[in-house]
Amino acid sequence: MMAGTPTSAPVAESTVATAPPDAEAGVAAAPLAETATPAVAVPGNKPRFITFEGIDGAGKSTHIAAVADLVRKRGVEVVVTREPGGTALGEELRALLLSEAMHLETETLLMFAARREHVSQVIAPALARGAWVISDRFTDATFAYQGGGRGVPADKIQALADWVHPGLVPDLTLLFDLPREVAAGRMAQSRQLDRFEVELTDFHERVRNEYLRRAAATPARFRIIDANESPEMISKILENIISSL
Ligand code: TMP
Repeated sequence: MMAGTPTSAPVAESTVATAPPDAEAGVAAAPLAETATPAVAVPGNKPRFITFEGIDGAGKSTHIAAVADLVRKRGVEVVVTREPGGTALGEELRALLLSEAMHLETETLLMFAARREHVSQVIAPALARGAWVISDRFTDATFAYQGGGRGVPADKIQALADWVHPGLVPDLTLLFDLPREVAAGRMAQSRQLDRFEVELTDFHERVRNEYLRRAAATPARFRIIDANESPEMISKILENIISSL
């Protein structure tokens, strides 16, 4: 390391009340993070960047708060955030991305535009002050959805990643894996679908395959979670993974 829907979690939530310092010159002040119990970073604690990934309906988002609580129990600051989004501008881009039809390259570029804000305003400052960052999706999602799903060449996505966040790679990526039919069944029961969620099964199969391909290519970073397991079992698995960090 420098290592749904546009509703909840509008900007990154942190356990610290103050806005983080700007990571780089020329970056606008960070939006105020929502506050919770102030925590003091433990000296010597290595900041970690953890991402949650998976196809829509795999159930990853329901486990994020619990993982954040587990980490907080160690007495470290935890910033919980999401992509696209995590900043005020990023959330506006998210609303567009999830609702407006656009060229697949526009979609890719807007994902990285939102990410640029997110890295500058939230992720890099948090890691720099010793916090752990837990993000509901990051650049693996662009490789999976825009790359695997829409067919944007991986070298183009990699070039954007190298430009927008050179050297920043998650320490751990939790990939919630589920057959598309099961995920679709879950979503049909629970909510109104956004522009990505209504894509046909083939699209999500390609997204899933690209996630699995990336996990196989960098196994040290990925843990694949069988999202068919019960929520209780998944919680236990996540507890074991986090306690091993
Ligand atoms: P979410 O519902 O998990 O919050 O994700 C929002 C949608 O955005 C989801 O369908 C995946 C999609 N997405 C991409 O297509 N590319 C990306 O780079 C990211 C971060 C998300």
